[in-house]
Amino acid sequence: MSARFTFRLVRSATPLVTGRISSPLARTLPGVHRAFSQSTVRARSDVVRETEIPVSVYSPDSKGSAGSTSDHFSIPVNRDDAKPKPFPPPEETEVVPLNKTVYRQMPPTLQKMTVMDKVVIVTGGARGLGNHMARACAEAGAKALVIFDANQELGDESAAELHQKSGLPVSFFKVDVRDGAAINAAVDAVVETYGAPDVLINSAGIADSNIKAETYDPAMFRRLIDINLTGSFLMSQAVGRAMMAAGKPGSIVLVASMSGSIVNYPQEQSCYNASKAGVIQFGKSLAAEWAKYNIRVNCISPGYMDTALNRVPALEAQKKIWRSLTPQARLGNVDELNGLCVFLASDASSFVTGANVAIDGGYTCY
Ligand SMILES: NC(=O)c1ccc[n+]([C@@H]2O[C@H](COP(=O)([O-])OP(=O)(O)OC[C@H]3O[C@@H](n4cnc5c(N)ncnc54)[C@H](O)[C@@H]3O)[C@@H](O)[C@H]2O)c1
Repeated sequence: MSARFTFRLVRSATPLVTGRISSPLARTLPGVHRAFSQSTVRARSDVVRETEIPVSVYSPDSKGSAGSTSDHFSIPVNRDDAKPKPFPPPEETEVVPLNKTVYRQMPPTLQKMTVMDKVVIVTGGARGLGNHMARACAEAGAKALVIFDANQELGDESAAELHQKSGLPVSFFKVDVRDGAAINAAVDAVVETYGAPDVLINSAGIADSNIKAETYDPAMFRRLIDINLTGSFLMSQAVGRAMMAAGKPGSIVLVASMSGSIVNYPQEQSCYNASKAGVIQFGKSLAAEWAKYNIRVNCISPGYMDTALNRVPALEAQKKIWRSLTPQARLGNVDELNGLCVFLASDASSFVTGANVAIDGGYTCY
């Protein structure tokens, strides 16, 4: 039998339960005692274990008595169902775009959850999480996809592949998100080609990790802040201005990180963490400022994801620790930001702005 101890700070003349702790705090605050109560996990035999579960079904094809449209029955409880099922491998090859005929047949709720006819810019879309979010937007009905990335070769390859697989117009601009003038020129070209963008997904970013603050090179620190934080600002400013000039509502999705809210363990990465905390606060500020223009700004904060960055043998030992600190006991798949990304880009999230949503397998619960 295992036991759990819970500590509570209580205002009481005497400790609530057994075992008073003589902490300095308890001794200095009159009338305040630090007490602990012991709660014991109940023995298995105390837990009600149903063998069957009553079910009521209301549907057009239920076969209830006397023409009723309801069925009432029971289902047996199979205890073996609790066994974990293997996680399906990510589908990385196909891109199936949503066509207009299918869209028109969808119920209104699902229509709203698409990005039908929207022009979507994805930074860092040459690979990794950004590339998968670009694919997801292609599948969710985008009119055109635009990839901004600093990597010429990968950017060209991924744009060609996405076009070939989806049949959609896809453009690649070799843009460094630190370069305001290049960003402005590229956004102007997007407006000219496709019209003002409806969506920006800013996924371009870098990570420095396992670097102690006391030896961190200030030049590296500035570079990372420049890419992760200033890049988020420059991209949002250029795309936001284009949306405003066109009088179009828009959605900006900034890829932050759970590292913007917690400190990772065991690796030292103060600069990355600070940069992502900045992205989250920048996103909220922009959401408040630009609500009057109908431009929404939200952040996605991934936990540890199984991307190229993390697939290096040197990280194996750390990954073990990361998994042990994650309730779902695994890293995220590279396509597991897709659903939230499409939702935030779509009109289904029309009243969501200034939010920061974690996708971390529960890491930030602990
Ligand atoms: N992978 C993770 O575990 C994880 C966790 C939390 C947050 N994130 C964030 O998600 C985002 C994407 O991460 P990823 O794992 O897909 O990384 P990735 O390295 O696979 O992809 C990043 C892309 O950004 C591009 N890029 C980098 N610097 C750029 C610059 N200055 N200008 C333009 N493009 C640039 C790269 O060329 C690359 O194509 C990053 O912002 C990262 O901080 C990742």
